[in-house]
Amino acid sequence: GEKSRFSLEAFRHVALDDIGSTNSECLARARAGDPGLLWVTAARQTEGRGRRGRAWTSEPGNLYASLLLIDPAPMERVASLPLAVAVAVHDAVKAVLPPGDAALQVKWPNDILINRSKTCGILLEGEPLADGRRALVIGIGINIRHMPDSAPYGVTRLVDHGAAITPDELFAHLYQSMALALELWDEGRGTAGIVRRWREVACGVGERITVNLPDRSLEGRFAGIDDGGLLLLDMGGGQVLPIAAGDVFFTRT
Ligand code: BTN
Repeated sequence: GEKSRFSLEAFRHVALDDIGSTNSECLARARAGDPGLLWVTAARQTEGRGRRGRAWTSEPGNLYASLLLIDPAPMERVASLPLAVAVAVHDAVKAVLPPGDAALQVKWPNDILINRSKTCGILLEGEPLADGRRALVIGIGINIRHMPDSAPYGVTRLVDHGAAITPDELFAHLYQSMALALELWDEGRGTAGIVRRWREVACGVGERITVNLPDRSLEGRFAGIDDGGLLLLDMGGGQVLPIAAGDVFFTRT
């Protein structure tokens, strides 16, 4: 058959000691004409970025990695890309976690939880380039030895679950699992394989959740995701809202 455009040997990797942000480095290289499928990792970041303009503290010992994609798919398919990223990170962490009781799950769209605490941050950034192409950067920070000083939710790190690995060891797994997840995402039509994989490890289906949208909050029951990767919020009375972007909190009862 035809070779996938996301086969392992299609990717390149630049490993840096020190950088402002691996996401910014990917975007700079895209502007300079990089063709994409480029991984940039750094031992430490001096200006690591989180979502919503927050800083991401980046001491040596955790994994800081960004993957540059150029025009990965038509816009309507990019909505399910975060699910592929979640599956890839899930599989990489699974590979280094000792077998045991720890529940490794994904939270919509792409948080990775161990026993319901967040162990990884993912920041997707897009940018139109001067030549009409579109750059998309997937930035991944995985807590191995360090955690943020404060966070609005429970956080954890891999050493607390018996995975005392180096960032390089974890990255070797991520490099492989990301290629596989992107292949599965790329093949997907309709009930995509990637959506099915995501559902198998989903946290909190059936539970009450609050979804924070830019302009308001909604409360309902998490009814799972549709085949395109949208969150389905059951508002009761037969009304189910598909949601494309928002922050999910499990409602404590
Ligand atoms: C979040 O706020 O949860 C997302 C955090 C994303 C952090 C990663 S670390 C590698 C990449 N480079 C950055 O500057 N941010 C992302």
